[in-house]
Amino acid sequence: MKTLYLKSYETEKAAEIIKKGGIVAIPTETVYGLAANTFDEKAVKKIFLAKGRPSDNPLIVHIAEINNLYQIVSDFPDKAKKLIEKFWPGPLTLILPKKPIIPSIVTADMNSVAVRFPSNKLAQEIIKKSGVPLVAPSANSSGSPSPTNFTHVLKDLSGKIDAAMDGGNCRVGLESTVISLTEKIPRLLRPGAVTPSDVRKVIGELIIDSSVYSELDLKAKVISPGTKYKHYSPKAKVVLVQASSEKYAEFVNSKFSENLLALCFYEDISMLKVPYISYGNKNNYSLQAKKLFESLRKADEKKVSTIYAHACNTEGVGIAVYNRLIRAAGFNILKL
Ligand code: TXA
Ligand code: MG
Repeated sequence: MKTLYLKSYETEKAAEIIKKGGIVAIPTETVYGLAANTFDEKAVKKIFLAKGRPSDNPLIVHIAEINNLYQIVSDFPDKAKKLIEKFWPGPLTLILPKKPIIPSIVTADMNSVAVRFPSNKLAQEIIKKSGVPLVAPSANSSGSPSPTNFTHVLKDLSGKIDAAMDGGNCRVGLESTVISLTEKIPRLLRPGAVTPSDVRKVIGELIIDSSVYSELDLKAKVISPGTKYKHYSPKAKVVLVQASSEKYAEFVNSKFSENLLALCFYEDISMLKVPYISYGNKNNYSLQAKKLFESLRKADEKKVSTIYAHACNTEGVGIAVYNRLIRAAGFNILKL
């Protein structure tokens, strides 16, 4: 299949392709998404195929008008209203009870649906012009780091999708925060740019699902299927190192004879005697979020066998960066 490359002014064209049952990679403020008409099961199937995505991993439905929510969800609790008022449009996905109109392929047979209203203007225009809510998982091959620019999308999906739009670099760089509102107490399933403390300020209590910090038992019944798969993984083996800058530098320097790369903070650089890629300043979690996936992809291009990543703290947006790092490392964590 030949993939059509679209410029950012071609939102009409993108919508036309989607309306005809095509799948199109589109920019959002978090990461690029691979979009299709939510109600077109054949098109949704194409997404799973192009990404190599397991069919038990449900998709997020994207809307560009709050009113579209009533078409999709059957219950709209007060806490959802509060979160929507504060954070939409933006990088927050809510899990709510679904209406039967949503095909079961979208929700992997679950009785809830994930909904998000992106703030990216191109995404909004494409959704509006398509005239339907759009499903859009991240526009990467399943398992690889999510795409934060057009080149990443093409690397993974060129030739497998109908079209892709170049909308520049994604502002956030990590996928949206996912919160489930299907139980009495809201539950954080995936951390993102909207932090637990941001959420607690608006709705009070929030449970952090254990999968945010730790490996899941693969046989266990999981609330968010996405959390059970190995994710964000470069081809190299990744080891996550929790240490001070000095100890981290000393450790990676001692491994100089290995074919390695240090995925480090800017502040570490002066102490390193090995090849490195910096993913931002130590205390700037938003910058780390923006640079992490690109850095993982760059590290892979260097064809090293091991990446020693310096772990960030888990304050604020740091929890989201840390969550992706432990998955990229396959939970291989070294504390020094
Ligand atoms: O920022 C984002 O959310 C991006 C952009 C493109 O919008 N999309 C994205 O989609 O990250 P995806 O498919 O890569 O991740 C969706 C996550 C998965 O972990 C999935 O398991 C979870 O949301 N999810 C979807 N529907 C769910 C549901 N009904 N219940 C629980 N988890 C759900
Ligand atoms: Mg994804």
